[in-house]
Amino acid sequence: MPNNKPVILAPSLLSSDFGRLREELAALEHAGIEWVHWDVMDGMFVPNITLGPPIIAKLRKDSRLFFDVHLMIEAPGRYLKEFVDAGADVLCIHAEAEVHLERAVSEIARLGAKPAVALNPHTPLDHVHYLLPELYMVLIMSVNPGFGGQSFIPFCKDKICELKTMITQAGATTLIQVDGGVSPENTGELVACGADVLVSGSAFFGRPPYPERHQAFLDAAALGAKR
Ligand code: DX5
Ligand code: ZN
Repeated sequence: MPNNKPVILAPSLLSSDFGRLREELAALEHAGIEWVHWDVMDGMFVPNITLGPPIIAKLRKDSRLFFDVHLMIEAPGRYLKEFVDAGADVLCIHAEAEVHLERAVSEIARLGAKPAVALNPHTPLDHVHYLLPELYMVLIMSVNPGFGGQSFIPFCKDKICELKTMITQAGATTLIQVDGGVSPENTGELVACGADVLVSGSAFFGRPPYPERHQAFLDAAALGAKR
């Protein structure tokens, strides 16, 4: 079935110039981009460390972008308020990292942000099945989280298709986000499967100018949506 919803590109700042984050955010807005993806890593859930609430809060003041915050941290339920107060519009937590997932999801909504849950490549969709009515978005990780520039794991495409069916059957409006190894080359097939939000780090920031690169993703998505 054709996907008629406009596809959203969310560039992942992990591949941007961390020394010029303010300028990078302004350049994204200038390129007509609406979402920006923040990768928060704690060195425990994933073998890498990035940034936290103070940096997001500082940059929130000067940006109109929709802040999509992907927490790759252990027991994220401890820090939900800090990230919502910092300015997260969507707050995404990993199913593998939180024992009391439903409680954390409802807490994100109570705090005023849109709740999302991320699944590592091997994690079954069952983990989000009963939560779909509460979830603004499910993030399908298509690489093992921690680093940019990895290759898309092929079986994740089937997972996107299966999640799309699950959401439709549940009568939910949950968005499907894909993160890891996404580029204009595979965008069409991901959109055809049901992807609504595409995260791209290296394939976006590594190929400026940003307005042209944004358009390359949108063109590929439009072709996929007609399939
Ligand atoms: C990986 C992060 C991704 C990463 C994607 O752990 O969650 O958001 O930046 O990078 P690419 O698009 O280069 O695979
Ligand atoms: Zn991410």
